[in-house]
Amino acid sequence: MTETFSGKTVWITGAGTGIGRELAIQLARSGARVAVSGRQQDRLEALAAAHPGIHPYPLDVTREADSRQVYDRIEQALGVPDLVVMSAGIWVLMDAVEYSASEAARVMTVNYQGAVNTAAAALPAMRARGRGQLCFMGSVAGYRGIPRAALYCASKAALIAHAEALRTDLAHAGVDVSIVNCGFVRTPMVAANDFPMPGIIEADDAARRILDSLATRRFEIAFPWQVVMQTKLMRLLPYWLYFALIRRVVQDGPFGLGKPKY
Ligand SMILES: NC(=O)c1ccc[n+]([C@@H]2O[C@H](COP(=O)([O-])OP(=O)(O)OC[C@H]3O[C@@H](n4cnc5c(N)ncnc54)[C@H](OP(=O)(O)O)[C@@H]3O)[C@@H](O)[C@H]2O)c1
Repeated sequence: MTETFSGKTVWITGAGTGIGRELAIQLARSGARVAVSGRQQDRLEALAAAHPGIHPYPLDVTREADSRQVYDRIEQALGVPDLVVMSAGIWVLMDAVEYSASEAARVMTVNYQGAVNTAAAALPAMRARGRGQLCFMGSVAGYRGIPRAALYCASKAALIAHAEALRTDLAHAGVDVSIVNCGFVRTPMVAANDFPMPGIIEADDAARRILDSLATRRFEIAFPWQVVMQTKLMRLLPYWLYFALIRRVVQDGPFGLGKPKY
């Protein structure tokens, strides 16, 4: 349903690679004006050079003032965005022996605060206009704490709760809020993972699913359904059963995240 965004303005962060990049390409092909942000300018420029309709706006989303300035430049050049996708993010696995407050702050600052900085820059104009869409990138990892992924899971759980609250807060302002909770997607983010990634899908497939669902203004965009169903069921389990199962899965099971170092 990418036709929905033909002639519309879209801002995507984390668009130099992975899901954000695929979203930008598919949206530009369907006739949208797409502002792409990320830290690495050369990637954004190469993307813009290869795809008419894509415009590079380098940004580190952890910098609130820069986020506002970049937003202002986008609004002046392309108009108030109809859709903003907060795809910038980092994936960190951490053993208990490496437990680090500064690393936790880094992950939250990019994955959570970075998304909030982006949304906060665009929201006033969307509210003033009485329409718009904010799309946060959560993860099925935000449903429950997964061993070795405490920092990542916490950042995604925060985004899910944030989006749930904002959906209601903005309902009467004409601004729709969505959250993407996907399983593994083949992107540079997971390229170094040395464990099996059940149900992994390609980034262009993920982008198609996200755009189809955004066109319907659905709140939760969750896929693939098999992974979503399993992780949602895990969320319903009592803790004693959850911990028994997750230990088994982590140490020997199909997810094989590897034996934790204490
Ligand atoms: N791949 C998966 O399996 C998966 C599953 C569930 C959810 N997700 C989520 O989906 C989103 C996209 O991930 P992806 O898989 O497409 O990974 P990716 O290819 O690594 O893309 C993430 C992008 O974020 C950008 N980024 C990182 N820190 C940034 C910062 N401080 N400011 C601006 N941009 C920053 C990176 O570009 P620069 O280095 O140029 O800044 C990169 O292009 C993430 O939020 C991720 O958590 C991914």
